[in-house]
Amino acid sequence: MKRRVAILISGRGSNMVALIEGARAADYPADIALVISNKPDAAGLARAQESGIKTIVIDSKPFGKDRAAFEAVMQNALDEHRIDLICLGGFMRLLTDDFVNRWTGRMLNIHPSLLPSFRGLDPHGQALRAGVKLSGATVHFVTPEMDAGPIVMQGAVTVRDDDTAETLAARVLEIEHRIYPAALRLVASGSTRIDGDICKIAATDCSNGTLTAPTTV
Ligand code: GAR
Repeated sequence: MKRRVAILISGRGSNMVALIEGARAADYPADIALVISNKPDAAGLARAQESGIKTIVIDSKPFGKDRAAFEAVMQNALDEHRIDLICLGGFMRLLTDDFVNRWTGRMLNIHPSLLPSFRGLDPHGQALRAGVKLSGATVHFVTPEMDAGPIVMQGAVTVRDDDTAETLAARVLEIEHRIYPAALRLVASGSTRIDGDICKIAATDCSNGTLTAPTTV
């Protein structure tokens, strides 16, 4: 049985589109059943509707600081649509520990850095200031700590001397769109197992490839 997935967005929803497109494969183990936005004007809403996906807006603004009340409405919608798994896709609202704990092992996030480096805001600026030669993106299970939690998949890109936060973000976004559907496939098919802080992956080819930057070595 395919797992029923809700994607939570606040903005343009390009990762949401990647997940919707990935889930079109006949053998994909998950169905994107619902998209929830906490912003009525999120550009991603129209893109979900074009794909025939049910969308719900739960405007977080009137709830102010009452995160629990906002989440109660969201939980109702998730229950109503019999959601098994949540994917956060640029969802810019902090979730309470209660909500996160209710979805332990069933909620994924994507962050545009190679975690645990560069959590939080401006990860690309942080990467450039640190002078790293490789950056990338991480799909991880959500835990109460922000941009932390067992890592399911990472993808790397090389960082160029002339990169700006914008050019690096654009290259990392391409990797995000590749790894998020792949990571959801692993989770939805039951190929992942959480062991403490670590996500173990069954039957994958973690070949002993290496990646260097610069590539002169
Ligand atoms: C993505 O780059 C995602 O990795 C990032 O927000 C962007 C959303 O873009 N998420 C975070 O920084 C989470 N800490 P999208 O709406 O086009 O998917």
